Amino acid sequence: MSAILQVTGLEQKFRLSKGLLDRVTFKGGIPRLRNPLVHAVNGVSFSVARGEVLALVGESGCGKSTVAKTIARIHPPTGGQVQVDGTDITRLTPRALLPVRAKMQMIFQDPFASLNPRQKVRDIVAEPLLQQLGSGRAAEVRERTLDLLARVGLNPEQAERYPHQFSGGQRQRIGIARALSVNPGLIIADEPVSALDVSIQAQILNLMLDLRDEFGLAYLFISHDLSVVHHIADRIGVMYLGFLVETAPRDQLFARPRHPYTRALLSAAPSIDPKRSRPEIELKGEVPSALNLPSGCGFRTRCPLAWGRCAAERPTLRDLGGGQSVACHLIDEPERDRP
Ligand SMILES: Nc1ncnc2c1ncn2[C@@H]1O[C@H](COP(=O)(O)OP(=O)(O)OP(=O)(O)O)[C@@H](O)[C@H]1O
Ligand SMILES: [Mg+2]
Repeated sequence: MSAILQVTGLEQKFRLSKGLLDRVTFKGGIPRLRNPLVHAVNGVSFSVARGEVLALVGESGCGKSTVAKTIARIHPPTGGQVQVDGTDITRLTPRALLPVRAKMQMIFQDPFASLNPRQKVRDIVAEPLLQQLGSGRAAEVRERTLDLLARVGLNPEQAERYPHQFSGGQRQRIGIARALSVNPGLIIADEPVSALDVSIQAQILNLMLDLRDEFGLAYLFISHDLSVVHHIADRIGVMYLGFLVETAPRDQLFARPRHPYTRALLSAAPSIDPKRSRPEIELKGEVPSALNLPSGCGFRTRCPLAWGRCAAERPTLRDLGGGQSVACHLIDEPERDRP
C-alpha cells in the first residue's frame, strides 16, 4: 500500500523583494547578494504511512511551517515532488488539485485566525463538505456536521454560535471538525496546541489520537515542543536550517539520538524521559541565515564535532536500520563522535 504522503527532495526558496530586504536586519550588515533567496527548505524527503503520526521538530525558523504550506500547496514548491495517496500533486493546476485537497486538510496554531468570525460554527464545519457534495445534499451535510461536532466534544446548541463565543481549546475542536468533514486520510497540523494552556493541550492531543484510531487518519504534526511531540508522535523528523537531519521512531530518537543537532536539542529539554542518559552536546552561537547557507553541512558552523569533510560535502540522510536515518558524516567516522 502506498504511503498517504511521500515527499521527495522538497525545496522552497523565497525570492526576497527589495522592500522586505530593507526591513530585515542582519548581523554584520546586509549580505551583498545580487538575487537574494531565502533557502527555507533544502531538499527534504520523508513519507507518512496511513494512520501514522509523523512529527517535525526544530527551532524557530528551521522551515517546519514552510514544509507544511508547500505540501498543502499554499506555496507551490520550487523543487522536488509531493505525492498524496499515490498522486503526484507537484504540478497540478488548482482545479485538478481540488479532489486531492479532500484527502489532505490543514489545521493551524491559531484557529481564531482561520475561522471566519461572521460564520456560525455549523457553517464553518459544513463548508468544505458542501463544496464537495454541492448544495443539493444540504440535509446530509447538516446531519454530518452535527455528528462531527459531537465527535469533537461540542453540542448541537454550540453549532449556532460564533467563533468568538468559544475558548481557544474549543476553537481548535471546531478547526478539527472542519478538517474532518471531508474525510481526509491526512491532516497537516502546524503547531495546533502551541497557543493553548498545558492542561488543554493534553485534551486536544488525546482527541487527535482518538480520531486517528477511529478514522484511520495520519498526521503530519508540526511542533517546536518536544514534550508535545513525545505525547503524539509515532515517528519524528528533526529539522535544522531547512534540512531534515534525522528521522527515527519516537522512542529510538529519545533514547539514542544520533545527529549532533538532535543530541543538542534533546539536552536542552532534559525533563521528558528522566531515565535517558543526558546527551552531552550544548548548542552555542546562532543559526546561520537562510539567505546564505554554509557550504557542506548546514549544522557545521555550530557543531562541536565538525571537521574538514563537513564544510566540503553536504551529508545526505543515511538509513541506519530500525527506521532511523541520519544526515551526518560522523556515521563514517565513529571515533570522532565525541565532543
Ligand atoms: N513568505 C516568505 N517569504 C520569505 N521568507 C519566508 C517566508 N516564509 C518563511 N520564510 C523564511 O523561511 C524560513 C523558514 O520559516 P518557517 O516559518 O517555515 O519556520 P518554522 O520552523 O515554522 O518557524 P516557527 O517555529 O517560528 O514557526 C525562515 O528563514 C523564514 O524567515
Ligand atoms: Mg512555523
